[in-house]
Amino acid sequence: MNNERMDGKVIIITGGSSGMGAALAKDFAKRGAKVAIFDLDKLKGMHVIQEIENLKGKALFFEVDVTNKQEIEAKVEIVEKELGPITSWINSAGISRMVPFLSSSEELWDLTMNVNLKATFLCCQVAIKKMLEHGKGEIINMSSLSGKKASSWQTVYCASKFGVQGLTQSIAKEFASDNIRINSICPGIVQTEMWEKLKYEYAQKRNINPEEVMPYFEQNIPMHRLVEMEDVINAAVFLLTDNSSYLTGQSINLAGGEWMD
Ligand SMILES: NC(=O)c1ccc[n+]([C@@H]2O[C@H](COP(=O)([O-])OP(=O)(O)OC[C@H]3O[C@@H](n4cnc5c(N)ncnc54)[C@H](O)[C@@H]3O)[C@@H](O)[C@H]2O)c1
Repeated sequence: MNNERMDGKVIIITGGSSGMGAALAKDFAKRGAKVAIFDLDKLKGMHVIQEIENLKGKALFFEVDVTNKQEIEAKVEIVEKELGPITSWINSAGISRMVPFLSSSEELWDLTMNVNLKATFLCCQVAIKKMLEHGKGEIINMSSLSGKKASSWQTVYCASKFGVQGLTQSIAKEFASDNIRINSICPGIVQTEMWEKLKYEYAQKRNINPEEVMPYFEQNIPMHRLVEMEDVINAAVFLLTDNSSYLTGQSINLAGGEWMD
């Protein structure tokens, strides 16, 4: 996907201030897309915008809580006025904690479900309404291998991501004949800010040192390496361009051979 251009695309990326969302925003802008970031973290979001502008790309930041439908709708109107009709949407905002099941609080359940699942539902509704008006569109939901395989201490996260899989597949079917494609990406471990915190919880679960966590994963993945940002970018560019024009309701496992369903 190295030379693939994205001129003419207007892409909203939730969670674009950090991690995979930020990397995708920067990459898409380099390929000629106009990008809008929806995130709670304004400081980090403005850094991403600055980096894009330094390379003469076009990007805007919006402080949005993606669990709030009114906020999403209001900001989408501004995006369309400033950048043009949206063509694509990536739902990458997410949170994750690793907690034993019996210590998982109701608050953790509500927060995780709201950010990972309900917000994806709300954003897909807003996106699809616009895409129906425009006659086409593509959505990527950033799911996880945890949307496909169970993990102890990650019950709440897994439940939210399994939900994202069901949501993605159901709406993909409903809007397949409307020229709107909805797919998901299911990464294994990507070393973002999310894992900076999670590795301490995982170390506790396995009773190892935090520095041993990533080598532990590498050893157990058939390809013996973690997901690289380039892997995520390649999958996303593929799913947002005509290279994948017959794919909808699918999920790409970025798993290095660890999971095959
Ligand atoms: N990092 C991994 O190993 C990994 C693996 C599989 C799936 N994922 C999923 O990929 C997505 C991106 O992960 P990441 O590692 O880049 O995470 P990250 O923590 O680096 O970034 C997540 C972003 O979401 C934003 N966010 C959180 N709640 C929000 C809200 N209510 N409204 C708006 N923005 C909000 C945060 O401010 C942050 O900028 C997440 O959905 C995550 O669950 C991550």
